[in-house]
Amino acid sequence: MKILMVCLGNICRSPLAEGILASKLPLGFEVDSAGTISLHEGEHPDKRAVKTAQNHGVDISKQRSRPITTSDFQSYDVIYCMDRQVLHDVIEMTDNEQERSKVSLFLEAAGMNINNFEVKDPYWSEMEGFEETFSLLDQASGIISHQLINKTK
Ligand code: 4NP
Repeated sequence: MKILMVCLGNICRSPLAEGILASKLPLGFEVDSAGTISLHEGEHPDKRAVKTAQNHGVDISKQRSRPITTSDFQSYDVIYCMDRQVLHDVIEMTDNEQERSKVSLFLEAAGMNINNFEVKDPYWSEMEGFEETFSLLDQASGIISHQLINKTK
């Protein structure tokens, strides 16, 4: 099963989400991430995201930012969005109901009613904001990993 995590720049939230969810899933699952904008294409994740993940034993340092493409809707089985703007922009790129049905808000899929089901952008915050983002994504990934494992049973 292939899972895609999506945020705006693909340098803060979705790289963390990719690393954390991948660390909780067994072999047979593939997790990747992308952004809705190409501004940071080719860049490694934000240093603060890399450091925060490293502090929790998750290595995201080798990831590279890339924009989401229309072919991702065929390649991936499940597509999780970090906030409502991203969800809107990703859904606009879909071609049909089958593709659209793969797309959801990550926190909503996890049943975590926090911040209106949005993972807020920590880009303009300090390390504290990245720590909060990590903690939120870690909780949600725990729930989602069980859901995904059960789906494949
Ligand atoms: P992300 O955070 O969507 O969590 O990767 C952002 C990082 C950079 C920008 C926007 C969001 N930016 O516009 O530069």
